[in-house]
Amino acid sequence: MRKIIFASTNENKFKEILLHLRNFDLEIEFLRFKTNEIQSENLEDIALEKSKVAFERIGQPLIVEDTGLFIDSLNGFPGPYSSYVLQTIGNKGLLDLLSNKSNRLACFRSVIAYNDGKNNLTFSGEARGNISDHISEVGWGYDPIFIPEGSSITYGQQGITNKISKSHRTHALNHFAEWCCRYYSK
Ligand code: IMP
Repeated sequence: MRKIIFASTNENKFKEILLHLRNFDLEIEFLRFKTNEIQSENLEDIALEKSKVAFERIGQPLIVEDTGLFIDSLNGFPGPYSSYVLQTIGNKGLLDLLSNKSNRLACFRSVIAYNDGKNNLTFSGEARGNISDHISEVGWGYDPIFIPEGSSITYGQQGITNKISKSHRTHALNHFAEWCCRYYSK
């Protein structure tokens, strides 16, 4: 079974990735890795650069992942600045920004960058939904305010199994895992 490192500081992401990749012939291992992200409007560029720095340090086949929450009525904000916005104004601040907006549509985007020293590729996935009008008590990151399409409850309320049945990260992981299994079976 092919072993891939997930280089990140986010154990919540790892739990989701581990659970989903059980469906594929891949072994995933968590390696705590922190680096300063480059400033870019483009999640692909951020993930690719992070994967290069991670590979230079770790020297084993690895993935990194970058997510952004893009809110339609805020012209895509916070997008690539999602981490900074959560740390500063938080979910409450975002709900305040949306208080007079009837359009609550939003989209989570996940970009996975794979690097094995030879291949450096990205795989992306999206999940559309709505921003709720209050913060649910469960869930990490933006999960307490994001209601995926086709649901009436937030990702946080759904719990990990339901969330990953069709999350942004799951779609990106499917693309990555399909490519990876094909590539290593050659
Ligand atoms: P990152 O830069 O990929 O770590 O993510 C940007 C911000 O989005 C961070 O504050 C994360 O906590 C948050 N985030 C990333 N993925 C998710 C998710 O699946 N659900 C909710 N929040 C997330």
